[in-house]
Amino acid sequence: MVGIYLILNGLKVTLMVTLLATILGSLLGVATTLMKQSGKWYLSWPANFYVSVIRGTPVVVQLVILYFIVLASLDVDKITAAVIAFGLNSGAYISEIIRAGIDAVDKGQAEAARSLGLSHNQTMKLVILPQAIKNILPALGNEFIVLLKETAVIGFIGGVDLMRAGEIIRSRTFEDTVPLFTCALIYLMLTYIFTFMLSKFEKRLKQSD
Ligand code: ARG
Repeated sequence: MVGIYLILNGLKVTLMVTLLATILGSLLGVATTLMKQSGKWYLSWPANFYVSVIRGTPVVVQLVILYFIVLASLDVDKITAAVIAFGLNSGAYISEIIRAGIDAVDKGQAEAARSLGLSHNQTMKLVILPQAIKNILPALGNEFIVLLKETAVIGFIGGVDLMRAGEIIRSRTFEDTVPLFTCALIYLMLTYIFTFMLSKFEKRLKQSD
């Protein structure tokens, strides 16, 4: 019975960290994209550096460094640290999602807008971004699903997410199969549900084309 309580609590942590990290990551992703496109080296350089470092190192290393070194003296709880670590990680990937979403809009759209007399900013705001958002939103949903699984390393800093809950039960009961397969099954169900919802959402976005 204690096992079920542990699993449910772990599930709550997994979902909460994933959701908050995706939100934080989206904000960071937008900020990073703006910095990169600002045309000012002192903004684009740090943004590029951030993306390179985050994408070039494993998320589990970032999580451990953030919790045990960067935030060590601040007495931040494990879940908050996890949200920050996964949010920071996600921000770098989301900035690439936004860039790809903007790049995927046909070049002719910008050319047409500019030849009609719209400024660069107007073209971005009125023509490119409304179309890019259709590429970006589904990819953001995908990022949520990726993060849902990535958070399985929270146990590295001692946070009890779904995976760690399974591990605790495994170590207490000396029973491997049931706890681990239960975890796997819950992850599978979650990703299945979110993927299904995402595909419905994508269909609806396509309808308005
Ligand atoms: N597992 C890889 C890593 O450790 C990929 C992380 C992907 N993260 C993301 N937010 N999409 O770095």
